[in-house]
Amino acid sequence: MIHKPNSSINPLVSGKTPPTIVVIFGASGDLTARKLAPAIFNLSMDNLLPSSCFLIGYGRKEISNDAFKDYISDSINKHSRRKISDKAWEALQDKVSFHAGAYDNLEDFHSLKREIETIEKKLNEPVQCLFYISTPPSVFKPILENLGISGLAKRHRNREEESKVIIEKPFGHDLASAHDLNAIINRRFEETQVFRIDHYLGKETVQSLLVQRFANSIFEPIWNRNYVSSVQITVSENLGVGSRGGYYDRSGALRDMIQNHVMQLLALTAMEPPSSLDPESIRNEKVKALQALKPIVLNGNNSEVVRGVYSQGLVDGEKAIGYLQEMGIPEHSITETYASLCLHIENWRWKGVPFYLRSGKRLAKKASEIVVQFKRPPEILFGKDSKYAVSPNLLVIRIQPNEGITLYLNSKTPGLETKLQPIELAFGYETTFGSNTPEAYERLILDALNGDGTLFIRGDEAETSWGLLSPVLDYWQDQGKKGLENYASGTWGPLSADKLLLGRGHEWLTGNMV
Ligand code: BG6
Repeated sequence: MIHKPNSSINPLVSGKTPPTIVVIFGASGDLTARKLAPAIFNLSMDNLLPSSCFLIGYGRKEISNDAFKDYISDSINKHSRRKISDKAWEALQDKVSFHAGAYDNLEDFHSLKREIETIEKKLNEPVQCLFYISTPPSVFKPILENLGISGLAKRHRNREEESKVIIEKPFGHDLASAHDLNAIINRRFEETQVFRIDHYLGKETVQSLLVQRFANSIFEPIWNRNYVSSVQITVSENLGVGSRGGYYDRSGALRDMIQNHVMQLLALTAMEPPSSLDPESIRNEKVKALQALKPIVLNGNNSEVVRGVYSQGLVDGEKAIGYLQEMGIPEHSITETYASLCLHIENWRWKGVPFYLRSGKRLAKKASEIVVQFKRPPEILFGKDSKYAVSPNLLVIRIQPNEGITLYLNSKTPGLETKLQPIELAFGYETTFGSNTPEAYERLILDALNGDGTLFIRGDEAETSWGLLSPVLDYWQDQGKKGLENYASGTWGPLSADKLLLGRGHEWLTGNMV
């Protein structure tokens, strides 16, 4: 009989979590509306929040408490995976308020502190603060400094009510700026208080990757250079930049997606088994995998990087405009909306196995997938004769959509003649477990409340990833427009990205074979 366990990597809130005040900096922003308010509401519906949990929105505009409450309830109505009932809203709304303040004005942080202490006094027990920095990155520094100087960072130090801070992406713009941010954090906080978010780590399918790799014995013997011929990670989107042009043009695909989400998928795929599920143990192994990445070849015939920008085209049968025509994009922008790379991990397990990464906007479809391509069997029985065409075995881990895993094997087609055909052994999350699973932000906010950093990026991890990619950004900056290739919206990106793999004996599989 197959045992059906019901365990998660991170335990749910124990009920012992102290009363909490969640302070969102940048509270009137898009992320609060689309993700944070719905996540907090859904946690409350599942009784996973501490019994006293307050939400204070912090922002520069003067907004009344009532107007902020309306904003939060509208956001939940619009974006929550579950409908809000009057009863659930009644329970929440009294605990929602707004605090107007500047990010660089210390006095405003002192007045926030007083407000927190008033709540604490009323409850007559210590309260933990979870500060969520969801502002534009330009004000991360003053917020972190002011949390430190005002004493908000140090409240109840070394107790379970100690303050915690979640920092949204992008964590830095390059290696130097990430290093600067880490320096402030190290001065003002303990690393255990800090939660650098990458929402991909909160996705069910990404958490499941650890379980699939390390709770099944069949993968370990073949998860290495002896059996794997390549690993491909695709995180593609069919949408363009939409209304986020202002942010995106300063960022680009490498900073926006590869440096964080895609590198995290790589680290989880490539890391060695950790010795325990302890957050540091897992993060140590991820960092080691990232540290083993070889510097990227940037130019010449062996170049391992490709960048592109979308031009007009057809996406799902609809006309789409080019990047330069999008709102807020400067006429002479050289920002890439697509990037692909070939990386090499110089360690015992992976030496010689290329890791191909790509991410882009306005591609043929939205898909986040990891494809592990295995080596072909020796051409003795099958494969040398085209009659017996052997396809490589593939393990496809679909992060989204259509979340699941498919193993492609060769089989004989029925009939008197021996013919081979790839077949699929498939598992789908929805078929097996049903839909309506928690959103990534629910998992991550809950973990931060519990002080569990497993699914967050540690300071050295962020810097290691930037250390690898900053030279690519510098090189592209020097090159200007040279080498920035157009691709039509609705396609799979620049032609050079296909050549990147073809020249190395591979081809992109997502959108092609799988
Ligand atoms: C964000 C990027 O981190 O991730 C966006 O800033 C991108 O540009 C988004 O669209 C994709 O997330 P998801 O969960 O829709 O794959």
